[in-house]
Amino acid sequence: MTDFNTLFDQIVAELGGRNSVMALLNVGPSALSNYRKRGTIPSAKQALLDKALAQKGLKFEADDLRLSAHNSAEIRRILLIITGGIAAYKALDLARRLMERGLSVTGVMSKGAQEFITPLSVAALTGEKVYTDLFSLTDEAEMGHIRLARETDMVLVAPATAHFITKMALGMADCLASTICLATTAPVMIAPAMNPQMWAHPALQQNLNTLVQRGVEIIAPATGDTACGEVGAGRLEEPIIIAEQVSTRLRQTYQNGPLSGKHILITSGPTIEPIDPVRFIANRSSGKQGHALAAEAVKRGARVTLVSGPVTEAPPAGLTHISIETAHQMKEACEAALPADSVICAAAVADWHVVGASTSKQKKTEAGPTVITLATNPDILASLSHHDKRPSLVIGFAAETDNLETAAREKHRRKGCDWLIANHIAADAKHSVFGANTNKVLFISSETCEEWPNLKKTDVARRIFDRMEAWFDGD
Ligand code: CTP
Repeated sequence: MTDFNTLFDQIVAELGGRNSVMALLNVGPSALSNYRKRGTIPSAKQALLDKALAQKGLKFEADDLRLSAHNSAEIRRILLIITGGIAAYKALDLARRLMERGLSVTGVMSKGAQEFITPLSVAALTGEKVYTDLFSLTDEAEMGHIRLARETDMVLVAPATAHFITKMALGMADCLASTICLATTAPVMIAPAMNPQMWAHPALQQNLNTLVQRGVEIIAPATGDTACGEVGAGRLEEPIIIAEQVSTRLRQTYQNGPLSGKHILITSGPTIEPIDPVRFIANRSSGKQGHALAAEAVKRGARVTLVSGPVTEAPPAGLTHISIETAHQMKEACEAALPADSVICAAAVADWHVVGASTSKQKKTEAGPTVITLATNPDILASLSHHDKRPSLVIGFAAETDNLETAAREKHRRKGCDWLIANHIAADAKHSVFGANTNKVLFISSETCEEWPNLKKTDVARRIFDRMEAWFDGD
C-alpha cells in the first residue's frame, strides 16, 4: 500500500503539477505542505480534487490510499438554484456539503440571490461556472438553458423564496432559474426559507401542494428564530440535513431498491383540532410507527410522501415531508399527493373538530366553562379507499381497547382497505402502545387474521414492507 505522501505526489502529477493544484484549490504552497504533514486534505478541498480526478477518469480511494479508474456515471450532478432571500448565504455551505458527498454542483443564481452573495463565491467554491442569465449570448452558446436543465441528475432550489415557489407553481419561465424548473426532466427538490407568516399563508401552502402534486419534493423549513426576528417555521433547513436528503433521494432514484419506482404515501402522528389559538383536542400519538414505516419505505427505494401531524420524531431523510395540523389539512395533503401505489394510514386522526373554533383566546367567565360543539372529521382512510385515484394497496391501522379482533375485522370492512394492522390499547395510558418502541399487532386482510409477536415498531414496519414487496411481485 502507498503512503499518503506518495499518493499525494501522484495526484499532483496527474493534475498537472503543484501550480495547477494550487490554482484548483485556491491555496498557496504552505497549504500543500500542511496537507502532506497532516496526511489529510480538508473535505471541501478533497471534493475539488475528486472532481478534477474524475474528469481524468480517476478516483481517490481514501481507505486503500490509491488511485483507481473512475466510472464517471457514478458522479451525480446537481443544479443548485439559489434564489434571493437572506438564507442565500447558507447556499455556500450547502454546496460544500453536497460536494463532500461526492456530488458535482453547478450554481444557478436568480437576480435576487446576487443581492446577497456573488456568483464569484459560488463559482470559487464549486469550481464550476455559475449561470445567472437567460439571455446571455455566451452562456447560451456554451451551454443553452435546455441543455443545462437536462444534463443534470437533480434540480435543487435552496433557498426557495415564496416568490420563486409561486413562479414554479404557475409554470412561469421569465428567468433562467424558473425556465430550468420548467424544462428539466430530472427530479426537483426545493428547500423553502421565509418569514413564518408567509410560510403558513394558505396561498403559499396551496402553491406547495400544487408542486407536490407534480412530484416536486419539499424539504420543509425548520422551526426557530428567523432573520426577520419572528419565531416559527420558515428557517432554511440545516445545509447538512438538506445535503443528506438530496443524496438519499439520488440514491433512490438512480439505484435500484426493491420498491424503486413506487410512490408510497404514509400518514403519521396525531391531528390536532383547535378550540382557540392556545387550546386544542387531539389523539395520543408519538408518530413512531408511522415514521418507522416511512424510513423503511425510503430504505427500499420507494418515493415516499409522509403527511404528519405535530410529533417530536424527526422526519426520516430522503422523503417529502408535509407537515399538517388538522384532519382536514391531512386529507387535503393526501389527496394532493395522489397518485400513489400504496397508502398506509398510520396517523391517529382526531375524530372530531370544534365547530366555530375561536380566533382569539376564550376567557374564563363567571358563567362556567365554554361549551364546545364538535363535528365529525372526514375519514381519510375510507375516502382514499374509495377514491377515483385509489392506490392499489390501501393499508390502515386500528387502535382498540376492547374485543380487538372483532372490532378490527369490522373496521377493515367498514373502511374498505386491503390490510388492517390492529393494536390493542391498554386502558391505562402508562402501559399503552403510545410512545412505546414496541407494538403487538394483528394483521388482517380479507383472507387472513394473523397474530404477530411483540415486535419493535421498526420490525413491524419491516414485516409490513416484506408483505408489500411480495404483494407487488404478485405472490
Ligand atoms: N383514520 C382516518 N381518518 C379518520 C379516522 C381514522 O384516516 N378520521 C384512519 C387511521 O389513520 C387508521 C384507521 O383509520 O388507519 C383507524 O383509526 P381508528 O382511530 O382506530 O378508528 P376510527 O375510524 O377513529 O374508529 P373508532 O373511533 O370508531 O374506533
